[in-house]
Amino acid sequence: MADQYVQLQWVEPGIALLTITREKSLNALNSEVLDQLEASLNVVEDSPEARVVIVTGQGQKAFVAGADIAAINQAPDLEHAHHFAERGQKLFHRFQTSRVLSIAAINGYALGGGMELALALDMRIAAESARLGQPEINLGIIPGFGGTQRLARLVGSGRALWMIASGEPVLAGDALTMGLVDGVVPLDSLMEECLRRARILAKQAPLALVESKRMVVGSRDWEVRTGLDAEAEAFARMVVSKDGREGTRAFLEKRAPEFRGD
Ligand code: CAA
Repeated sequence: MADQYVQLQWVEPGIALLTITREKSLNALNSEVLDQLEASLNVVEDSPEARVVIVTGQGQKAFVAGADIAAINQAPDLEHAHHFAERGQKLFHRFQTSRVLSIAAINGYALGGGMELALALDMRIAAESARLGQPEINLGIIPGFGGTQRLARLVGSGRALWMIASGEPVLAGDALTMGLVDGVVPLDSLMEECLRRARILAKQAPLALVESKRMVVGSRDWEVRTGLDAEAEAFARMVVSKDGREGTRAFLEKRAPEFRGD
């Protein structure tokens, strides 16, 4: 039987927790972990109630210490190495474009492919003890799961190139200062903080939540004019949606809205 490397739990209605459980290898991403992450994302997306997925690593030491270095070393040729990069890129792109919002609960090392996974998720909350970095250069390679592109967009090209070309990791506190993570908390409150945020998101009007993500994620790739057109179109759809009518009416009637997802 194949090893189980990803655990999916529904923490409460609408909120899923994906834990990478390859702790002995610091949750390093080999093909099996990538396959199981994809299968778990499929299950989450197949649930109409799903609003937020939290992704974390098992144990106190690592979120994910990177793509599996043994697998990289054993790539027999250019084609296999290329395929491995595309495999990770496609999976992370699926998290980025999923209708379900995602939070990285960074409980320890987020290095290489682990940091790239965190970068592809919508929000990143780190434990004070976490370290984040793109150390691939120390192996004579470069990031292959999207790091060169997402990191530069998030923190600027100077900082991104420093991290990628020096291989030096940053502490969680510094990651917060540079906008690489969105919050830093003690390790023992990490899940509580991620859940607090997930609960706030999960109770919002479902269609507006999905459109909020689509617009903000889209803004990374779109020309401003394209993004503004997309925003106006989505805004109009939300205004005339049942939840949009209900939310605005509830405000005017000074009562709490009841959103139903249509
Ligand atoms: N791949 C495979 N195995 C890994 C791993 C990785 N990325 N990271 C850690 N491990 C394994 C170690 O080999 C070790 O296994 P054994 O017990 O069988 O020897 C186990 O996890 C524990 O690791 P260490 O003994 O090294 O633990 P440490 O506390 O001394 O060091 C660390 C921790 C600093 C995170 C160190 O493990 C490390 O530097 N890991 C590699 C980080 C890295 O280079 N990541 C980038 C990978 S390449 C990549 O991700 C490419 C891409 O973009 C797609």
